[in-house]
Amino acid sequence: MRVLFLLAAGNTLLASAFYIPSTDAAARRDLFSTFDEADQRFPISPPHQFIKAGPNDHRGPCPGLNSLANHGFISRSGVDSFFNIVAASNQVYRMGIAASTFAGVLGLFGGNLLDPTLPISIGEPPSNAGLAGLLPGLLAPPSGLTNTHNQFECDASLTRCDLYLCNDAHTLQPQYLEPLLDLYAADPSIANSVALVSQQHANRINDSIAKNGLFFFGPVQMVVGAFTALQVPSLFANYSAEHPEGFMSVEGLMSIYGASRASDGTLTWSRGSERIPDVYYRRPGALLAQWDLPILLPQVLEMWLLFPETLSIGGNLGEPNTFVPLDLGAFTHGAYSLDDLRQPGGLNLICFIYQLVQILLPDLLGNVNDLLASVLTDLGQVTDGVLGSFICPRSMGAVDLTMLNQYPGWVKSQKKKTLL
Ligand code: HEM
Repeated sequence: MRVLFLLAAGNTLLASAFYIPSTDAAARRDLFSTFDEADQRFPISPPHQFIKAGPNDHRGPCPGLNSLANHGFISRSGVDSFFNIVAASNQVYRMGIAASTFAGVLGLFGGNLLDPTLPISIGEPPSNAGLAGLLPGLLAPPSGLTNTHNQFECDASLTRCDLYLCNDAHTLQPQYLEPLLDLYAADPSIANSVALVSQQHANRINDSIAKNGLFFFGPVQMVVGAFTALQVPSLFANYSAEHPEGFMSVEGLMSIYGASRASDGTLTWSRGSERIPDVYYRRPGALLAQWDLPILLPQVLEMWLLFPETLSIGGNLGEPNTFVPLDLGAFTHGAYSLDDLRQPGGLNLICFIYQLVQILLPDLLGNVNDLLASVLTDLGQVTDGVLGSFICPRSMGAVDLTMLNQYPGWVKSQKKKTLL
């Protein structure tokens, strides 16, 4: 499996040489011009039929992973290895290897680093957390993705509430899904799909600033928020023969999110219901058509251009509407400003993310015993192989994490981590 990753990483680098701005309609059409029924139809016959999750199965804040588990593409229990989770995201939804590895590495914050297969629960902590519990700090019992607040799970999610506002950041809130459905009902074509989800993302950020005194949106959260929002039009759209470029069907969106309408029209959701529709087509498998850096970076830049508040990095100071931006220049010791991140082409953006991961990884994977050393070296090589070959005009050797202590939402989540 690891060999596969290294191969895929090499391919991703090749692909990254060709940026296809999502706004370039002609280039997009070319990428999606070949529809392949056999390849693109989701393989949802047995053993991948939908089975609603049972009470002991783990499900969490990610509709994509919840649906993969409900169809048995990853373990139906909701606990599977890092490698299987990344591979299934790539093979089933065509999330590129670089993007899915990035998500998987962040997911390790909730995973079990003492097991060489690096199991991650996509929801609550697994019941057999075992010996991991004997170690302090980051090697504390694996928390599951649900409990990774401000490590992966973050505020202002598209359809989830902020943790410190509702004491629950994994349950879908129909009042947040409804406006997203309205946007796509009015314009299901793929042409404006990035703009529409960006609008929802901006609305959610503004709402959090207005209501959540502990709202925190640091650099990692800003990146996670943008990436996860962009998964909706990019990975949930239906790439059928009629619409090879993609189509945002509201029914499809509701199904993958696990929502349905009661007879009186009320939007409802129940845990474990995320379902891939019976007739659904994924993105084409060609490397350049997968959702990876060459497509994703221009989408992020487009999002920032249309809705500048989506590039908010900072947080509230304990009361609603007290948002103070983080001084990114000081935080990165002069390496990056917000303007640097906005530069066309996305090179600074990807370099910033890559360097941030490099800085955070040792923190995440530090104090690891010998048994794991080889797995983690491989993992480092994969991350390096996938993201590292960009020639970065700027280098960031360290960040000033103490600057985050001005934000009570960040401080509170750090306290929680040590209690795990
Ligand atoms: C390595 C694989 C993946 C990991 C570890 C992962 C993890 C997560 C986590 C922790 C969140 C919560 C972020 C937040 O608080 O806003 C999230 C959100 C999300 N993920 Fe994933 N994910 C993965 C793959 C996927 C895939 C393949 C899809 C789509 C098919 C997907 C779609 C989404 C969406 C749409 C959200 C936003 C949910 C919302 O608030 O509405 N993810 N993911």
